[in-house]
Amino acid sequence: MKFLFCIILSVFAMGMTAGHPHTGSKKDKEPEMNKYINNLIRQMTVEEKIGQLNLISIDGSVMTGPVTESATGERIAKGEVGALLNIMSPPKIRELQDAAVKNSRLGIPLLFGMDVIHGYNTVFPISLGLSATWNPESIEKAARISAIEASAQGVCWTFSPMVDISYDARWGRVAEGNGEDPYLSSEITKAYIRGYQGDLTQNDQIMACVKHFALYGAPEAGKDYNTVDMSRMRMFNEYFPPFEAAVKAGVGSIMTAFNDVEGVPAAANEWLLKDILQQRWSFNGLIVSDWDAVREMTVHGIGDLQEVSARALNAGLDMDMASQGLSGTLKKSLAEGKVKISDIDNACRRVLEAKYKLGLFNNPYKYCDTTRVSTDIFTAAHREEARRIAAESFVLLKNDKELLPLGKKGTIAVIGPLADNKPNMLGTWSFGANLYSPVSILEGLQQQVGNHVTILHAKGSNLTYDKELEDRVSLNWGTLYKHFDRDNRTDEQLEAEALEIAGRADVIVAVMGEAAEMAGEGASRTNLDIPDAQKDLLKKLKATGKPVVLLLCAGRPMTLTWENENIDAILNIWFPGTEAGLAVADVLFGDKEPEGRLTMTFPRSVGQVPMRYNYRQTGRPPHADGRIVPYVTGYIDETHLPLYHFGYGLGYTSFKYGEVMLDKKEIDAKGTVTASIEITNTGNRSGSEVVQLYIRDIVGTVTRPLKELKGFKKIRLEAGERKVVSFTIDAEMLKFYNNRLEHIFEPGEFEVMIGANSNSVSSSIFRLL
Ligand code: NOJ
Repeated sequence: MKFLFCIILSVFAMGMTAGHPHTGSKKDKEPEMNKYINNLIRQMTVEEKIGQLNLISIDGSVMTGPVTESATGERIAKGEVGALLNIMSPPKIRELQDAAVKNSRLGIPLLFGMDVIHGYNTVFPISLGLSATWNPESIEKAARISAIEASAQGVCWTFSPMVDISYDARWGRVAEGNGEDPYLSSEITKAYIRGYQGDLTQNDQIMACVKHFALYGAPEAGKDYNTVDMSRMRMFNEYFPPFEAAVKAGVGSIMTAFNDVEGVPAAANEWLLKDILQQRWSFNGLIVSDWDAVREMTVHGIGDLQEVSARALNAGLDMDMASQGLSGTLKKSLAEGKVKISDIDNACRRVLEAKYKLGLFNNPYKYCDTTRVSTDIFTAAHREEARRIAAESFVLLKNDKELLPLGKKGTIAVIGPLADNKPNMLGTWSFGANLYSPVSILEGLQQQVGNHVTILHAKGSNLTYDKELEDRVSLNWGTLYKHFDRDNRTDEQLEAEALEIAGRADVIVAVMGEAAEMAGEGASRTNLDIPDAQKDLLKKLKATGKPVVLLLCAGRPMTLTWENENIDAILNIWFPGTEAGLAVADVLFGDKEPEGRLTMTFPRSVGQVPMRYNYRQTGRPPHADGRIVPYVTGYIDETHLPLYHFGYGLGYTSFKYGEVMLDKKEIDAKGTVTASIEITNTGNRSGSEVVQLYIRDIVGTVTRPLKELKGFKKIRLEAGERKVVSFTIDAEMLKFYNNRLEHIFEPGEFEVMIGANSNSVSSSIFRLL
């Protein structure tokens, strides 16, 4: 009897399950999806709907905060889980998907999310480094490869791109962003989304998640997770554009920020989620919280777990990452009338739609093709791209007497704690990669020089003198990373060895900077110098009188004022990823040239931050040449100028810019003006240049920035070659948000500036009638 009952029940259940949706033509896809999901939602219990809003982590997955509970197959089978994150085992993913598809009542598949930030197995430069390529095509390619590798291992959703604008180099997460400029960041954001998502019907494209909405990059005092407060006008002009660009580019999901905005934490901020995202920008994708952020609202002090969970749902949040506040309390809130079933349905619908768009209802195992693990990961082609793009991201900050490129001859002393270190080359957020897979700088140089050059190597120092700091930073990431490989020898012994080989060398290459986890989440710093242990060594290397090249590993703008005055050549290589050493060799020896340009301003001292190029004019502007004068915006003990400007970077050749030519001096709102400039390669080798267009709205009804990036073009010129580069400017590009949040342009004069960086431009003026 019991047996018969079971059969009847399972036949009945089969009739009710999710089933396979039709794959119709593009035109009828949406109604088809709606029909399918409406039908599914009709069959779901309240518990199952709430279960879909639950994104959890399980023991053994990578965690960026405390795990509140373990997921089990039983919980999945009961429909209590909608998605899981950071599971790095394809068999485990398959097992969990099985539990959902085969054992849960409606067989709704799970989403598997992961922080695939700048590569998965093959690691590209950190995102800030990628942005320094100023090449959306390269960034799209990096994202595409990331999607191929992640999807081959069961991941269908990446928590990337991170597009938080920041002017604050103290904030460690600038490593993960696209720099300080809203326009450039928007272009880059679109490239990431194209690369990750492409055509989601394919099994090697994954859903992107733009984050962290909003203002996460502006924490007070640069402290991660700190409070933010700013005007709405500033939010719209500076912080929101990359998010809006992501929405327009069709991003599938958005992650909320940890911080509060106007006093309400982002995860429960109705103005952000409903008014801006859903209404103003018509975003209809999935909105997910950051890790534990729902529960953390109890710590922010805006209510108990039930209260904050209800507030989050009512504000428009669909999915709760890790805190299980929604899953644990919504049923009670529903019974007490604190939330409406229609809002639960809507949130559930958006989770189901994401699954539908990914094709998981058609094939829940779409991302579990185990044959791909052996063919699609860490391939020679992927590594070749990683090498190319890493080289493209390097920024040459100084090159006295054309010390670089180095000739392949003589003796080179490669010195520093990052010279022969693999894990640090990967930078933050690279837990999909084998820590020892990168080519170290030393290895790369050795491989590329053959027998013509003698390469000597010494570590020279530890990364820092401060073991406690190293332990703290390592603790942030548990046992995952081993970046601070401390040496058994004393500081004196390490130094003596380095100075001995330096004495025998023709040139010293010092590989120094931050450890990977000194920049990234939870890694804000008050001191932006190269750590003392290394800087002390660098000073001694300089004192040898030998030419010194500094290869700087950094996850943020660092203060290099001493280095700029004293070191012959400085090449910023960020954290270059898997092919670090080979990419460095390519650039150091001149097989390639440094093409990167800064996307964040480099300060002279930490007291200058937050710092940016596109600041608004004050009534007491500082002196343009940087001299210190009283009673203007500035300091008494430091110039207001940065050390390296936004957009700056040298190559191995030189370029001469002509004057900006405008084809008209006046346009109306429907017209366009073409701005052109002639650029000549005046050096004796070919080279590339990022030609940058800035515009200033000279008089506005509100104060306007001194200049704003509005376009850029990367060009390559042979020695002696000239090219005319043109930009078309229309009224749309002149729009901004005023203090009533109207998106407008205003008639009047505009200064058009074109040049090699934000501080080196020539200009001309036109009038918008
Ligand atoms: C916290 C981080 O803020 C976020 O960027 C990340 O995606 C999640 N943890 C998940 O790891």
